[in-house]
Amino acid sequence: MIIVPAGSSLGLAAKVAKEMGATLADVERKRFPDGEMYVRILTDTKGAEVAVIGNTRSDADFVELLFLLNAAREAGASHVTAVLPYFGYSRQHMVYKPGEPVSSKVMTRAIENFSDRIICVEMHDEETIGFASHPLDNLSVIRTSSEYFRDMKIDLILSPDDGGYGRAKKMAEILSIPAYYINKKRIDARTVEMHLPEIDFSGKSILIVDDIISTGGTIIKAVKLLKDNGASRISVSAVHGVFAKDSDKIIEPLVDLLAVSDTIDGDHSLISVAGDISRALAGDE
Ligand code: R5P
Repeated sequence: MIIVPAGSSLGLAAKVAKEMGATLADVERKRFPDGEMYVRILTDTKGAEVAVIGNTRSDADFVELLFLLNAAREAGASHVTAVLPYFGYSRQHMVYKPGEPVSSKVMTRAIENFSDRIICVEMHDEETIGFASHPLDNLSVIRTSSEYFRDMKIDLILSPDDGGYGRAKKMAEILSIPAYYINKKRIDARTVEMHLPEIDFSGKSILIVDDIISTGGTIIKAVKLLKDNGASRISVSAVHGVFAKDSDKIIEPLVDLLAVSDTIDGDHSLISVAGDISRALAGDE
């Protein structure tokens, strides 16, 4: 297998290639004078099984991913898999207001147009899977995330809302500790109230888990509540650390540990999903 790294997933692609004993392709990237993107896969992919690993976090990432998928196929790859560690634009799976596009349908249909298979990691909105007509695997990395915290003496896991409770519960089961969730109540369009479950948090080591941290607003509110209720150690984890507007800089000083996965490369990408992706590509899960 040949792993082709997109610019958005250089570190993770290298780890996957190493883990699988696969070739990591060389890719040339540049911009034309008018700003348009140019990519070229320098490694010969003729007749090979190819996996292109790249996010769709930004519009440019999306264009690069499509170009690399097409480049592999144009060069004669026998099978092309698109691996999206972070599937950006997966939030809008329906028209909420007249005139809007179904963004996640557009992304899925475009990507599958240039690939034989799609692999994603914990896509935020699973409705998107229904738009695919080719095989689309949405990998769960709950076990990998849980194992990272195994020896950290966590007393309990807390989800910042009931929507994420399922994930918190599964992690808690793996670690043999309890899980709870914060009750979120929308007061009006701008105000959301958060209420902790009625248990004693004082002196406890708490792990807050979410699937994604974007603006950080949800996590910051949850951390403040826990501090006010006497938690002694607060760790925060998510699969995807988007950290819009550098929100990691606000969260970091508030907590004892901030650990997200490497689906998006960053300073806090301490949990690697390379093993999960390698197993999926090898057909082991
Ligand atoms: C909500 O459905 C998600 O699980 C996250 O809690 C949310 O997307 C986090 O967003 P932010 O970091 O902007 O509060």
